[in-house]
Amino acid sequence: MAPPVLRGTADVDRIEAPVTAKAYMMCAFASFGGIYFGYDIGWISGVMGMKYAIHTFTGLPYNTPAEDFVISASDKSLITSILSAGTFFGALAAGDIADFIGRRTTIIIGCLIFMVGVIMEIVATSVSLLSAGRFIAGLGVGFESAIVILYMSEICPRKVRGALIACYQFCITIGLLLASCVVYGTQDRMDSGSYRIPIGIQFAWALILGGGIACLPESPRYFVKQGQLEKAAKALASVRGQPVDSQFVQQELAEIVANHEYELSVIPQGSYLSSWANCFKGSLWKANSNLRRTILGTSLQMMQQWTGVNFIFFFGTTFFQQLGSISNPFLIGLITTLVNVLSTPISFWTIERFGRRPLLIWGALGMLCCQFLTAILGTAISSDNDAATKAQIAFICLAIAFFASTWGPGAWVLIGEIFPLPIRSRGVGLSTASNWLWNTIIAVITPYMVDPDKGNLGPKVFFVWGTLCTCACIYAYFLVPETKGLSLEQVDKMLEEVNPRNSAGWKPTTTFANEMGLTKGGVSSEEIVVDVEKRGSVH
Ligand code: BGC
Repeated sequence: MAPPVLRGTADVDRIEAPVTAKAYMMCAFASFGGIYFGYDIGWISGVMGMKYAIHTFTGLPYNTPAEDFVISASDKSLITSILSAGTFFGALAAGDIADFIGRRTTIIIGCLIFMVGVIMEIVATSVSLLSAGRFIAGLGVGFESAIVILYMSEICPRKVRGALIACYQFCITIGLLLASCVVYGTQDRMDSGSYRIPIGIQFAWALILGGGIACLPESPRYFVKQGQLEKAAKALASVRGQPVDSQFVQQELAEIVANHEYELSVIPQGSYLSSWANCFKGSLWKANSNLRRTILGTSLQMMQQWTGVNFIFFFGTTFFQQLGSISNPFLIGLITTLVNVLSTPISFWTIERFGRRPLLIWGALGMLCCQFLTAILGTAISSDNDAATKAQIAFICLAIAFFASTWGPGAWVLIGEIFPLPIRSRGVGLSTASNWLWNTIIAVITPYMVDPDKGNLGPKVFFVWGTLCTCACIYAYFLVPETKGLSLEQVDKMLEEVNPRNSAGWKPTTTFANEMGLTKGGVSSEEIVVDVEKRGSVH
């Protein structure tokens, strides 16, 4: 009897094994990487305000007048932004390394580099060594932030991929919260523990992530890229909790292989430089061209930063201090971090129920309303008005809740889904680098925008964020495709066949494996024979 040929949505749906508890656990564990991402952004501003740290890094005596007893603006800016510089280069380099030595090993190496950076930060008593340590630690965070997303997108079952990658964002928010709590707990110590404890704790995150990832299987898509199909089959069987010869494993593998072959036939790899150039090839007007996908990934992360959420996390305390009638700005800062943590889990459900597109469109709409209202209240009503101040804080918290449940996870989920395998690791690396680049630009520019001696925008700064969120809303409507429920290979097909605005209605009707003959006896690849009837295995 001839082996069945996949046709129609029902068959296409059978490509992936049912989601097992083991699959959930593995992906949920990988999302732990978010903790050290969030924690690392979170501790620095608190440490730079600590008396003992100021004394150590500036050499100023404790009896210096309060207004002069600070780390200079240029040193602060260097210490803060050098981490982002490291992460930028780390994320760019990590994509290549992940294709060369594997996703898992790259994450583990990222953890080791990070630990070297942390040791330098711990022993530092000068700004130069602290900055050097932060640069090295940043490289490690860059490796981790790009490759954990890549790894998770490649191993997560498609039906829950969005929700599981949203866990990564949840871990970022927990990291930020933990950093605030630890810094809050050590800030009054008058010994080196004040800053060495918050820094040293990061060791634990690197050990847990590196040690844990070492126990997980490699991404099967990495092995397919390497042409190691036997290993790919074993890795896929392991992440799906199925035997290697299961029909699900064979079909899913056939689809990954066929899609990869198809992609290579469209854009061959060539030399190292030309394979980088591949990320920028194709027409700007075609949603499935590599150029469009690279622009989409990098601009998604740029827009995520344009929402202005980091203005609140980086400079919230200073901003709240300027809102006249606030008695405890630090507490408000802590509340905004808590709102961020508590709102993120909403996306676990909504990202799979409603999809990525509606989340980004409605999320940007929600944020822009809150931000314009904050700006209008702050501009039109005197800062002595208690009710107006409270309303402003409420709108800021609501804007954070919108971010945390939409753009926060959405941007990370999408960059893991939109790239075809031949350029996926670089595409994710470039997109992550864009996140860090814009993160730095915002960290450097915004203090000048609100500084009373410079831009002095005060609450008017929310007009800027509101306008940028308007851009993000329009951008999401016209350019963001719906990837919910599709395998990474189906996303490829969808981008080929419809424009982003019609993508939500697109249904897969055939598979790459089908079109290339892999499900009919394995004719187009010499190494793989996928025969559903015989439940044949990979040779
Ligand atoms: C962003 C970070 C931000 C964090 C807040 C992440 O998705 O990339 O820049 O600080 O969310 O939760």
